[in-house]
Amino acid sequence: MDTRRDFIKKSLIACTALSLPLTFPENGRALQREFKIRNPKRALVLCYSQTGFTSRYGRLIACILKEKGIAAELADMRTFDKKRITDFDLIIMGSPVFYYDIPPNVSSFLAAMPKITGIPVAAFVSFGGPEGNQHNALCHALHLLDDAGGAAAGMIALRSIPSYPTPTWDSANQRAAEHLPDASTYGQVRSFAEQVLARISRGESIIYESEISAREVMRTLPLIWLNKKAIRKHTVDGEKCIGCRTCVKQCPVDAIHPEKQFVDRERCVACFGCLNNCPADAVVMEYTGKRLYGFPEYLKRRKITILEPAEFQTCRL
Ligand SMILES: Cc1cc2nc3c(=O)[nH]c(=O)nc-3n(C[C@H](O)[C@H](O)[C@H](O)COP(=O)(O)O)c2cc1C
Ligand code: SF4
Ligand code: SF4
Repeated sequence: MDTRRDFIKKSLIACTALSLPLTFPENGRALQREFKIRNPKRALVLCYSQTGFTSRYGRLIACILKEKGIAAELADMRTFDKKRITDFDLIIMGSPVFYYDIPPNVSSFLAAMPKITGIPVAAFVSFGGPEGNQHNALCHALHLLDDAGGAAAGMIALRSIPSYPTPTWDSANQRAAEHLPDASTYGQVRSFAEQVLARISRGESIIYESEISAREVMRTLPLIWLNKKAIRKHTVDGEKCIGCRTCVKQCPVDAIHPEKQFVDRERCVACFGCLNNCPADAVVMEYTGKRLYGFPEYLKRRKITILEPAEFQTCRL
């Protein structure tokens, strides 16, 4: 990611210059746990998604589980009532990789989960590029699920178009991934769902271990904070806003108030969800002085149509 590499370089320099404290996460090797059940009957596929890739993969997983006779529910992490989590005997969570990790709203959600001792859990992430630290982001999610008592049955990283907006939407990763997801990505999703079920039926939980890498060092930097410094302007254009409240629904931290044309910069986690979903180009964000445009506009300009899996024509959740 050319632009991201520049951003990281600047971030490292800024951190050193400001002597910011860097905290290293404890993401070592996981212990193997026993599954409480061997044949799940009620599965929850719980996703957080901003540009629809994670939720698309989650929906396909739920469809496959349904084909196998399991009652599967697909839910949005932003609105799901945590107390319901104990109603399920298989939990599969999905998240995008943002800033080399799972986003902070996802980690807070997982850290506050009720106990799910022995319940099989699996995690998937969608990510934008090979340098994205997707494996360690997955380990982070599984460690949090393990802290709640879940027994890990699978993990997978699924590549997508990077949804990180740059003024040109033209990084090397964006160009390389414009055709994703493709038939092979959906093949990976199907075998992931099948392997998770097969492991549970055999009683074989997985062992996972985070990798020590430069990308893992990046994860420890206050990247969101640094990025917010680079986003000089973040507001709503009252002339263009059509009052649809999509941005409000997408925002994971209740930071955008289109009626007041106000964004709470303290709360904001720089996920670009408001910009990337506004249908009226009314979210104004300037990155180092340049106006950004969102994901729908990028797809339109590049004439990209995202391939949907065949299952969606018949699967009703
Ligand atoms: C704010 C932001 C940060 C991102 N950071 C990373 C990253 O560190 N590594 C990566 O591989 N992809 C990164 N991406 C790309 C997303 O992970 C990828 O596009 C993902 O599929 C989006 O999922 P969604 O459509 O479910 O929101 C980032 C995207 C955004 C918007
Ligand atoms: S998504 Fe865009 S048009 Fe809709 S309320 Fe938000 S700023 Fe206004
Ligand atoms: S206001 Fe900030 S946190 Fe909320 S959707 Fe927009 S970028 Fe994300």
